[in-house]
Amino acid sequence: MNVHQPNRKLPRNRRKGIWQFAEAATTFFRGFLEHPGMVASVVPSSRSTINAMLLPIDWARCRLFVEFGPGVGTFTNHILDCLPEDSTLLAIDTNPRFVEYLRNTIHDPRLQVVLGSAADVESFVRAAGHSRADYVISGLPFSSLPLETAEQIVDATYAVMAEGGAFMTYQFRRTARRLTEGRFERVDTGLALSNVPPCVLVWGWKLKDCAVREAAE
Ligand SMILES: C[S@@+](CC[C@H](N)C(=O)[O-])C[C@H]1O[C@@H](n2cnc3c(N)ncnc32)[C@H](O)[C@@H]1O
Repeated sequence: MNVHQPNRKLPRNRRKGIWQFAEAATTFFRGFLEHPGMVASVVPSSRSTINAMLLPIDWARCRLFVEFGPGVGTFTNHILDCLPEDSTLLAIDTNPRFVEYLRNTIHDPRLQVVLGSAADVESFVRAAGHSRADYVISGLPFSSLPLETAEQIVDATYAVMAEGGAFMTYQFRRTARRLTEGRFERVDTGLALSNVPPCVLVWGWKLKDCAVREAAE
């Protein structure tokens, strides 16, 4: 497993860390100014939101992890820290600035960054050589998307999800929760109050066939 270790003896590395943070923040803010409706936030998600969101994941079973709307990679690096060596992280974003930034700054053979819409997740998954995704995390601003597009994305996500997998969202509004509840068999929720602004965390689980039958009985 590839775990980032802070190195307290190397102030030069810390300065580089601060520089990278500033570069990411500037790129994110520029992306927001260019496409405010698509980015829908002026600051990336907080560390506590990331930790809470990723907590229920069974990393050992994960072959393909998909990230919608990675932006400047706020979640991406943390996912890579936990992902098994032989697994893939497929990151899909509509913003060419963010796609270029991620390709230039994260050099990890497990990461594939593609330019396009989450609505086309099924073809992106196939192009990456997989038939199913084990987990999908979404940073998409669902409440800013046309309802038809939002529903299309959630339907395509359900279709491509492996049984036992989860669709995860962290949103300021409740749109993603409603859409997830309309499609997935089991939905867990939480709150990230320390995020700016606070957001609703949602895990929509695609249950295995037998669990679906039991739930229906
Ligand atoms: C609020 S930002 C989230 C950034 C980051 N994941 C975070 O948590 O800080 C929303 C991201 O979704 C992307 N986006 C918006 N619509 C999209 C779509 N249909 N498919 C893929 N990405 C999209 C935007 O370009 C932006 O990077």
